[in-house]
Amino acid sequence: MILGSPDLKDKLIRYSDWKMDEDEAYLVEDKDATKFFNTNIPARSPSIIMSDAKSKIPRLEHLNYPRNIGISLHHFANHELMAIEIFAWGILKFPNAGRGVLHGFLKSMQEEQEHFQMYEKRMNELGVQFGDKPLNRLFWKQIEKMQTLEKFTAVLSISFEGANLDYTQVYKKALEFHGDMATAEIIEKVYQDEIKHVKRGLAVFNRSQPDDIDDWTYFNSLLEYPFTPRRAKGYMYYPETRIKAGFSEHFVQKLGDYEDEYTGRVNKSSLEKVGI
Ligand SMILES: [Fe+2]
Ligand SMILES: [Fe+2]
Repeated sequence: MILGSPDLKDKLIRYSDWKMDEDEAYLVEDKDATKFFNTNIPARSPSIIMSDAKSKIPRLEHLNYPRNIGISLHHFANHELMAIEIFAWGILKFPNAGRGVLHGFLKSMQEEQEHFQMYEKRMNELGVQFGDKPLNRLFWKQIEKMQTLEKFTAVLSISFEGANLDYTQVYKKALEFHGDMATAEIIEKVYQDEIKHVKRGLAVFNRSQPDDIDDWTYFNSLLEYPFTPRRAKGYMYYPETRIKAGFSEHFVQKLGDYEDEYTGRVNKSSLEKVGI
């Protein structure tokens, strides 16, 4: 339903409301999903279609204009929608992950649905409708690098959701700087949920980590170049958020130290302009 239906409203139906037969067979026998696996492209109606068109996210110092906050939330909502679909993909792709893991994915997926709706409601209040701007395929571009359960959690949870721990810190601070406490509160709620999501991913990761290699080495072994650990953090890094999510001191340090050829390309002057 989430992958096979092109309609946004179907992608937002809570799993407790899905029509499932005995043993939740729907999860693995979704005909639409079978069709989907042949293409790796989720169905999307024209108003929410993904594209390669560029859409710039407003600079932090420009969040004094409500419309710019709305456009930023449009970006975040797009990430949430992709996360909803990719969790649905993961649930179908890894049916043998174990009941606990699958249930964790379902819960994360439902919280992504809630995040999407909180962002959408707020962006509407600020004069922006979902689909007004191009929707990129940031997460879906990495689907080929998520073909095992361990790689799935390394890319989705430890990298994308991990980096979101940094971005939520940055945006919460920037919005408080500009006095938009209502949006800052939404971002804080998302941050608290994302800590749980990263923890769920980390549990899968820890369970599969071989005894003879450390967590950082294992993490690197799951990533396929040019996807590097740089993608697991924002342009500002908040190590305390990773400690909270349960990573080892060693991992948190190594991630902080990590650089690749793209490190340093981000202009950090915006951060100073909003007091970060
Ligand atoms: Fe989320
Ligand atoms: Fe998440």
